[in-house]
Amino acid sequence: MYREPSKQLIDLFRGWPNPALLPVTSLTQATSTALSTPSIYQPGLQYGPDEGHPPLRQHIADWLTSFYRPKDPVSTARICISGGASQNLACVLQVFTDAAYTRNVWMVAPTYYLACGIFHDAGFMNRLRGVPEDAEGIDIGFLEKALQEAEAKATAEGNHKPLYTLARPWSKIYKHIIYLTSTFANPSMKVVSTHRREQLIRLARQYDALIISDDVYDFLQWPSDPNADLSTVELASVPRLVDIDRYLDGGPIDVFGNAMSNGSFSKLVGPGVRTGWVEGTEKFAYGVSQTGSSVSGGAPSQLTATFVDHLVSTGALQRHIKSKLIPSYRARYQQVLSAIDDNLVPLGFQVAARTQLVVGGYFIWLDLPPSIKASVLTERALAEENVRIGSGALFKVQGDASDHHQDFEGSVRLCFAWEEFDQLYEGVRRLGNTARSILNKR
Ligand SMILES: Cc1ncc(COP(=O)(O)O)c(C=O)c1O
Repeated sequence: MYREPSKQLIDLFRGWPNPALLPVTSLTQATSTALSTPSIYQPGLQYGPDEGHPPLRQHIADWLTSFYRPKDPVSTARICISGGASQNLACVLQVFTDAAYTRNVWMVAPTYYLACGIFHDAGFMNRLRGVPEDAEGIDIGFLEKALQEAEAKATAEGNHKPLYTLARPWSKIYKHIIYLTSTFANPSMKVVSTHRREQLIRLARQYDALIISDDVYDFLQWPSDPNADLSTVELASVPRLVDIDRYLDGGPIDVFGNAMSNGSFSKLVGPGVRTGWVEGTEKFAYGVSQTGSSVSGGAPSQLTATFVDHLVSTGALQRHIKSKLIPSYRARYQQVLSAIDDNLVPLGFQVAARTQLVVGGYFIWLDLPPSIKASVLTERALAEENVRIGSGALFKVQGDASDHHQDFEGSVRLCFAWEEFDQLYEGVRRLGNTARSILNKR
């Protein structure tokens, strides 16, 4: 297809932080302090304890306590350092699932598509199932029915005990995995309501499911009202699933609990630091640390954990989030929304999540008018306008062949974090050109 050679690529697909948002000055300070202080660099350059660099565990626990305000402080023992949310997901599956006994992975759909590969690698190919989103974030009735059916099938097949991953003193094998990004979902930006979170915890307890929530965008939040004061969103706007599991109906039903929080510094410092954390019950966090690769290699990301610890313990990261990331992402989000209002809403496009009081994360999920297919818009926007966006189909649960499977041809994802600020409006304007040309030529 014809492309005007002068049009520069505008990338509204890539889910990376813009380079201007990387905290290079604070990191320079952090690395030079760490590498010139023997008490920091010596452990930093050795194999780390299985649970991770102790000061970072403690400082993460304090920082989470001040943001989420659970009834009791987050203890250091609830935290295990990871190599980021993706790496940690793989470790959790190695320790807490069995490729035969664990029946299904239930993924809220549309889903963070790259998680599918991690589940496939763990032996769940063709056993991933999509659970639709609804106004409160996850269709709990659908999930309950599907869990019932899966259990009936397991009983009929005689699937009563793990075959490959035997439970060890530090682990248990769950029958189901429920995977979601409960706050500012990638791609839909939805936040699961507190009521729904409670229902989800009860269901997980009833069906022996582990809820894995990628809580990677929680700190990047702002009011949807462009005139509202940012001080209204200094604390988390909803309790995490892991916090609800800690207290609901008297607390976890066993020492491992039914929910874990998968945290990451990728969106707060930079993906290259490959450092994150997992929070769960103390026994659960210890279980993750006993993944064979951590026992052999020590905690992942041991050296970078010392750098990140400097950022967290000095408050440099908290200041970066508050004074740089949130104002920048808020402005970027508003810029894309105003471009959508000017160029796409008149054509019948809609952004459902904009009605939430608090919005955040990296992505806008844009619903298309019924006469435009996401795959066509995505392909033609690139070919004709040199604009990259994420086609809805990318966010399907890969390998789910069930009746209810959705194709998401009615939506696309736009990322406002990566592209230069000055190009954001133009990117959406060009998308409007493509949409108009599809509508006229139909
Ligand atoms: C929902 C979600 N989970 C996990 C990740 C990857 O996190 P990490 O870089 O910590 O592996 C991303 C990155 O886009 C994401 O959006």
